[in-house]
Amino acid sequence: LLLIPIPLLGTTTLNPVTSVSGSLAPSGLVLGVYEKQSNNDGIHLTEAAAAFDRSISGKLSEMLSISGPPLKKGKSRIFYGLHQDFPSAVVVGLGKSGTGVCGKENWNNCKENIRAAVSAGCRQLQDLEVAHVEVDPCGDGQSAAEGAVLGLFEYDELKTKKKVRVTTQPYGSVDSAAWQKGVMYGDGQNLARQLMEAPANHITPTVFANTIEQKLSPFAHKVAVHKRPQSWIESEQMGAFLSVSKGSEEPPIFLELHYKGSLDSAQPPLVLVGKGITFDSGGISLKPSSGMDAMRADMGGAATVCSAIVTAAALKLPINIIGLAPLCENMPSGKANKPGDVVRAKNGKTIQIDNTDAEGRLILADALCYAHSFKPRAIINAATLTGTNTQAALMLSNKHRLINGFSLSFIITGDRVWRMPLFQHYTKQITESALADLNNIGKYSRSGGACTAAAFLREFVTADHWAHLDIAGVMTNKDEVPYLRKGMSGRPTRTLVDTHLHTKQDNLLE
Ligand code: BES
Ligand code: MG
Ligand code: ZN
Repeated sequence: LLLIPIPLLGTTTLNPVTSVSGSLAPSGLVLGVYEKQSNNDGIHLTEAAAAFDRSISGKLSEMLSISGPPLKKGKSRIFYGLHQDFPSAVVVGLGKSGTGVCGKENWNNCKENIRAAVSAGCRQLQDLEVAHVEVDPCGDGQSAAEGAVLGLFEYDELKTKKKVRVTTQPYGSVDSAAWQKGVMYGDGQNLARQLMEAPANHITPTVFANTIEQKLSPFAHKVAVHKRPQSWIESEQMGAFLSVSKGSEEPPIFLELHYKGSLDSAQPPLVLVGKGITFDSGGISLKPSSGMDAMRADMGGAATVCSAIVTAAALKLPINIIGLAPLCENMPSGKANKPGDVVRAKNGKTIQIDNTDAEGRLILADALCYAHSFKPRAIINAATLTGTNTQAALMLSNKHRLINGFSLSFIITGDRVWRMPLFQHYTKQITESALADLNNIGKYSRSGGACTAAAFLREFVTADHWAHLDIAGVMTNKDEVPYLRKGMSGRPTRTLVDTHLHTKQDNLLE
């Protein structure tokens, strides 16, 4: 793959990174070891691990072979006192070397193995309260940095007892631009995780908007942030969005971000739209109480989209992006939508709301109409729209090129994607409504939920470059992704950033 070089980040250099010594606290060290290819193979260390081994006259490989069987993928062993600069060194299994993209898994094995191994090693040292860790880049500094940054994240802001804050740096020679990029990708996803994990009484629409504004403040010369209040939303005649927000005491905000990274300020922007329901109770179609707390993350679309824009700005990506996030709560109240209510969206279409829990498509409908006013190169929306645990984002799009560009990035980042269809069959389900032009639920209710939801959204899209990502299936992580702790995943933030590097700009227009 050819990466478009990232300007101003400096050219790729080989930086010999010296270890911390002297008055500073001692460092921990994370090193990788591959699985043996054959039985008569010796220990197969990474380049950095082999260099470390040489610096201590082969003591590492000696210890590895006497301490037990060869390390399996993701398994680790910790050694103390091998080197005076590194009182604790963790060696982690990377699996077989030279495995690449796996068609069955739809990801890059090498990258996933590095992320998992580095994350496991860093966490072990964090548990030992080692505050600074040097990390083997494992031949792919970006993936190693992502593993470290993502693996160490834990949302403990509201706990008295917090995990040790660990700083990391690459060990040995590394492509520093790749490492830096990995750190920024990881930080971006962690920002989305933080917003999603935080309780709904802490991250209200207002706080969400302020947080993103503050994160974008270092890039103010290239960024504009508009926090549109209710009066603006009313003047834009966003009747579908307003119908959801009026059920809550919390004021809605329509967040609008402009990132001008292209030297050509007239370059048509990419518009990213994210569902920003900061809490989804279901409304009058109330959800069951068990597990309802997870609905604090129903702003995952807005969180990943806005975090991707923060990351794009940090990376100085040479493109123009506009981010749109309708932010509100979906609550039951005397003012809330009632099943059977009819509202009018920004484009004039009327919608019968037969289920108030299908609110995401309502707020997105107006945001999608508004997105067209920027004459975008492409519109991409991300939303936790229909509940499933697919562990892959669902992608529905009216453009092959968009799908191809995205699919590549999903493989690289390990976020994974399934393509789903936009058959007329689904459109029929939502265009047959007793009282209005559209119904917000399909007449066969939940079957093919993601497809009917996408068919509904398509009623508000006239651009012919549109992709919808239903990310409900990747909202949470139990233990499926080994380098993310249990909790809200922040997926697919890295993919939303990465796709701009792998989608040739003019391809989008074909
Ligand atoms: N926010 C939910 C979808 C969701 C559920 C995301 C679980 C993540 C985990 C959405 O607003 C919703 O309630 N969708 C309904 C739609 C149905 C009423 C047509 C669903 O999927 O059940
Ligand atoms: Mg809902
Ligand atoms: Zn929802």
